[in-house]
Amino acid sequence: MRIGVLTGGGDAPGLNAAIRAVARKALADGNEVAGVRNGWAGLVRDQGVGLIDPHQVSGVLAVGGTMLGTSRVNPLSDESAMAAVIDHFRSEGLDALIAIGGDDTLSVARALSDRGLPVVGVPKTMDNDLQVTEYCIGFDSAVAIVTEALDRLHTTAAAHHRVMVVEVMGRDTGWVAVMGGLAGGADLIVIPEFPVSLQDIVAHLRSRRERGRDFSIVVVAEGARIDGLAEATAETGPRDAFGHLLLSRRGVGPQLADGIETETGFEARVTVLGYTQRGGAPTAYDRIWATRVGAAGYDLAVSSEFGRIPVKRGDGIATAELAEVVAGQRRVPEDLYRLAEVFY
Ligand code: F6P
Repeated sequence: MRIGVLTGGGDAPGLNAAIRAVARKALADGNEVAGVRNGWAGLVRDQGVGLIDPHQVSGVLAVGGTMLGTSRVNPLSDESAMAAVIDHFRSEGLDALIAIGGDDTLSVARALSDRGLPVVGVPKTMDNDLQVTEYCIGFDSAVAIVTEALDRLHTTAAAHHRVMVVEVMGRDTGWVAVMGGLAGGADLIVIPEFPVSLQDIVAHLRSRRERGRDFSIVVVAEGARIDGLAEATAETGPRDAFGHLLLSRRGVGPQLADGIETETGFEARVTVLGYTQRGGAPTAYDRIWATRVGAAGYDLAVSSEFGRIPVKRGDGIATAELAEVVAGQRRVPEDLYRLAEVFY
């Protein structure tokens, strides 16, 4: 059996661990693994597949990024691109495909599966917001980076008695902001699920000063809409191939820091953590989880359970339909958001 594997969308620490798990299991079973270059781009444009040998997956467990490359190319935007994917899948002699990605990549996988292509998924997004699964590859590493940054920012914020705004990733949901903020002792967390206005934020920072807290750490998810900050509620600007606004250009963090300084007179600074949250080595948790879920994706492929995806449920792995996982976003529940408020 020749099994293709690709990684699509934004990279995340742990992708190489998942590819390694697929390859090691396949090679042990006497199957072939073909690495598809650069996500869906590799099959739309037939960038060729390379058979993965044991040496290529040696030493990659601790390495960030993805040895296969990735892209945000979207074959769903054009019927001829979908046809090209199917043609190239066949001409490369693939018997199955494992697509490792988030909602965009997996939406394509689901559409291909609906057209009869033997595809399975593996959940990856450092945003950690896919439905059904309780965890996605890359999230723990992102939270660890945010936590370390908040620890470092605390000392400089305290020394200068400043408001430190920290912008983190999170397009539609605030998982990275809430978990990073809880771990790093944030004094306010602003996320898409629970909108607040600039005036709410200002009132909270004033009340902290009145309580003798002369510095504050505000964590804001890049996708947060803040009433009172015109630019940070705008829906215009450059978009990616899946139609998403490029939030790194929208700049909610810098605008919030400006708004706070103007409204309160408190000295404010901003740190945009950006792509540091996706770069570098995976944590131990991500290495282990990516190994388990990558191996489970391989098991689905060899047992011909196409159109399905392994998911985290409790401490174990269950499987679900691809269609369920891409049906919407898993949002931060109110109890977790309110727990963070206790420490403000
Ligand atoms: O999908 C994960 C994510 O990290 C989002 O939080 C972020 O908005 C997006 O990727 C940015 O990715 P890129 O700039 O690589 O398209």
